[in-house]
Amino acid sequence: MNVLVIGSGGREHALAWKIAQSPLVKKVYGAPGNPGIDRLEKGACINVEVDDFEALDTYIEAESIDLTVVGPEVPLVLGITDFLEARGKRVFGPSQKAAQLEGSKSFAKDFMNRHGIPTAASETFDDLQEALRHVQSRPTPLVIKADGLAAGKGVTVATTTAEAEAALQAAMAEGAFGDAGARVVVEECLVGEEASILAFCDGHTVKPLASSQDHKPAYENDEGPNTGGMGAYSPAPVVTEAMMELITAEILEATVKGMAEEGMPYQGLLYAGLMITEDGPKVIEYNVRFGDPETQAILPRMETDLVPALLACCNGSLENCEIAYSSRPCVSVVMASGGYPGVYAQAKEISGVEEAEALEDVAVFAAGVKRVGDQLVTNGGRVLNVTALGDTQQAALERVYQAVGCIHFEGAFYRRDIGAKALKHLE
Ligand code: AMP
Ligand code: GLY
Repeated sequence: MNVLVIGSGGREHALAWKIAQSPLVKKVYGAPGNPGIDRLEKGACINVEVDDFEALDTYIEAESIDLTVVGPEVPLVLGITDFLEARGKRVFGPSQKAAQLEGSKSFAKDFMNRHGIPTAASETFDDLQEALRHVQSRPTPLVIKADGLAAGKGVTVATTTAEAEAALQAAMAEGAFGDAGARVVVEECLVGEEASILAFCDGHTVKPLASSQDHKPAYENDEGPNTGGMGAYSPAPVVTEAMMELITAEILEATVKGMAEEGMPYQGLLYAGLMITEDGPKVIEYNVRFGDPETQAILPRMETDLVPALLACCNGSLENCEIAYSSRPCVSVVMASGGYPGVYAQAKEISGVEEAEALEDVAVFAAGVKRVGDQLVTNGGRVLNVTALGDTQQAALERVYQAVGCIHFEGAFYRRDIGAKALKHLE
């Protein structure tokens, strides 16, 4: 069969890389893809953007694509699954209605409250003055969130009332996030350690993937501005087996059951961003797609074929699908462009990728990269996801940083403490 992966980042390269390993697959296309996908033996790229549904449909016909896997949230929230399914195509990704779990934070909060799913206490506001009065009456810290999609930038953890007021002004009066910030959610601040739990869902059955943990702040010791994620590792020791059972029952299964009851069956990948608090796991946010960079740290551990799992989610047959993971830990380190997440230079020549990839247990996923002639150059903030497996967490860390050391581009920076939290638990 032929598979199309929609998107152009490291997550999409990792998906295409794993899909290409399936004996079921003849060809894997990326739209628009990236040089990492293009370079796969079975890989090719299609020059179509993720929100050009008509053009995607035309290519799916022309290339006889049997399964389309949607990487990023924007096309899902815009209804790509409904659009393509109405034209007889098979799509891995939730419907537009189900994608509201990520597309609207107030929708997600109301849903969780209706179904008793643990999350931070919150209130939703459409009126700036009311929101201001609310934060002035509450102790800090408080978390202010733009309701809609804001490319990961719509959340402020405010430690003072003035900061909370400024975040409300920016979202509701100054239009910092466009329409996405006209409504805001004000939340209590949760305390604990974060973890990402991704799960395959077929509308009724849930199968969690291996646990993982992201590193959102740009600099070491979780300092600096928030990013899309500077690295990830799997498994996350904070998620013990007992914790995973609790998360599966109280959060993942409760979500899928609730969505089915409300007439929006959830099919695809459900991502629960969690805070493991003293009172148990609580949902910080839902995403309706694979995490980036969590996927890059999870898929190298998956021992079974990914494609049957994706198909089972589409066909409603997940219950009978076997999915197994290696016990070996995996770490993925993001190499970013100097200045990210602010302004950064582009088109810097990248060297050493092949040297890094020649190391045992290493994969390098292309994120913000393009090819100019024979030369790879930077083309985004998060440039490469350097990934390594090891027999132990320590071995995976040593290997991944050895691989990072092989790769060079002007202004490159990365966090040297990816996975350090896992080591603390393991000590
Ligand atoms: P989000 O974009 O919703 O994932 O939020 C970005 C980051 O803000 C999360 O990864 C958390 O570190 C932090 N955050 C969001 N909501 C809360 C909360 N209620 N309590 C504490 N931290 C939060
Ligand atoms: N790593 C966070 C996300 O995918 O949203």
